[in-house]
Amino acid sequence: MAINPPIDATQTPAWAELQKHYDALQAEGVDLKKWFAEDPERVEKLSFEAGDLHFDLSKNLIKPETIELLANLAKDVKLDERIKQQYTGVHINNTEDRAVLHTALRRPEEDEGKYIVDGQDVVKDVRETLGRIYAFADDVRSGKWTGITGRKIETVVNIGIGGSDLGPVMAYEALKPYADAGISARYISNIDPNDLAEKTKGLDPETTLFIIVSKTFTTLETLTNAREARTWLLEELVASGAISDGDEAQKAEAIKKHFVAVSTNLEKVEEFGIDPSNAFGFWNWVGGRYSVDSAVGTSLAVVFGPARFEEFLHGFHEIDEYFANTPFEKNVVALLGLLNVWYRNFFKAASHAVLPYDQYLHRFPAYLQQLTMESNGKSVRWDGTPVTTETGEIFWGEPGTNGQHAFYQLIHQGTQLIPADFIAFANTPNPVKDGDQDVHELFLGNYLAQTKALAFGKTADEVRAEGTPEEIVPARVFKGNRPTTSIFGVALTPFSLGELIALYEHITLVEGTVWGLDSYDQWGVELGKQLAKQITPALSQDDKALADQDASTQALIKFYREKREF
Ligand code: F6P
Repeated sequence: MAINPPIDATQTPAWAELQKHYDALQAEGVDLKKWFAEDPERVEKLSFEAGDLHFDLSKNLIKPETIELLANLAKDVKLDERIKQQYTGVHINNTEDRAVLHTALRRPEEDEGKYIVDGQDVVKDVRETLGRIYAFADDVRSGKWTGITGRKIETVVNIGIGGSDLGPVMAYEALKPYADAGISARYISNIDPNDLAEKTKGLDPETTLFIIVSKTFTTLETLTNAREARTWLLEELVASGAISDGDEAQKAEAIKKHFVAVSTNLEKVEEFGIDPSNAFGFWNWVGGRYSVDSAVGTSLAVVFGPARFEEFLHGFHEIDEYFANTPFEKNVVALLGLLNVWYRNFFKAASHAVLPYDQYLHRFPAYLQQLTMESNGKSVRWDGTPVTTETGEIFWGEPGTNGQHAFYQLIHQGTQLIPADFIAFANTPNPVKDGDQDVHELFLGNYLAQTKALAFGKTADEVRAEGTPEEIVPARVFKGNRPTTSIFGVALTPFSLGELIALYEHITLVEGTVWGLDSYDQWGVELGKQLAKQITPALSQDDKALADQDASTQALIKFYREKREF
């Protein structure tokens, strides 16, 4: 089925209504304090539940009636059609002519046979691959799968980059309390040799298993690191006497026992020397940044076990179903995407902070940067025409409370409007008391205090009433009306992590649909890759390659040639 040309959101009746509404709010004066006072039911009207997550949208720069206008925009751009197309495998990634079916990765067995896409029973294939991954994970966890010398695996090292790294490392960090098989993980991504050097330090090659993860199995960084890791393994095993240098059969056996692969390109996996029976596949309808719940998450299945991985998938599926089946007015997943449009296009907010109040989520903002910015950082629409409004805000963040002592100053008192998502959980796996004080409550007190301060601020009179000298009153005033969404979960579990990831995946889809983007290609990463191939030879002695460069690049290379010490 061919996809329709994008609808220009800015020409829809809903957009015009939103503009009118925005102008009216500006004329009235955006004033959260007043809006809370005027409407005692504001919080109730703007609170939502999805799965086991609670959402409070009341501290956003909206009135309850804004919700209907945002939902109308979703209808005008035919968001429901786009969701349906995505969920059923229409090739909505049209620049690559591919389906976009990450939602199929978390469908239950009962859905086998229901989604036949390009002749493939996608759920059946997903479940079959999961079965192989789970059997492998069980073997590694139980010690049935051993290294070359018969020892149980203690460390898995995931080598991948972008979507083949950011999701797994984020989820590994997030779920650390659930690691229960005496296996830890490390993640190598950067082609900078410092990354591999540091991550292999202290590793015992006999108990280390490398998982090479690359959708294409052609990515420069990953293949370079994988070759380096292979050299490291063999050298270390020879050095320790575990294998002998001249014995090629033993070396091949060592690679078999210490290397597995995850890829859509199983031919290339075999070329690399990894036994195809030790490779787990996925499909071109899984985008890299949407792949943590595919075989790309194999390191997670090994560290946390198949049952936890299944819970993780259930969390995704819960939100997938909610998103696809809830009317837009009540659909907080869709509304959060629409709210981002509201801030980006009407308030002209250029960035969006994601601030997890959970140390285990410390890689979540970095993960979201690829998900959101590689998806929606675009200037042309899916039919090749220019976009008609601003797209892709910058996502960034750090865990609270660390961010409070770093950049919150700018969010509170700077000149830019920065909408922020505050994420916290009612329970912690590490309950601790400092005297009588529960430390998690101290932490949550900060979570709540920040959104309150951002929303309601502090007036000059309130500052004066504290006895502040008049000349420094202005510096101590907080204007407030800085928008936040509070996302409150019960506990950070495999299930709720799946929910959170699916939430942001769908937020990305909503924004991309409003802007008419193909959120699933990433041509913007290609030019740099091409140029790196041309420039790299110039760094050594290739003067022809040097002469081909622009003046600035030439000067930088000359500096390098003069200064390098090897
Ligand atoms: O940076 C571009 C990109 O293609 C990402 O989209 C992808 O996640 C990453 O490279 C890694 O690609 P692969 O999994 O094919 O090695």
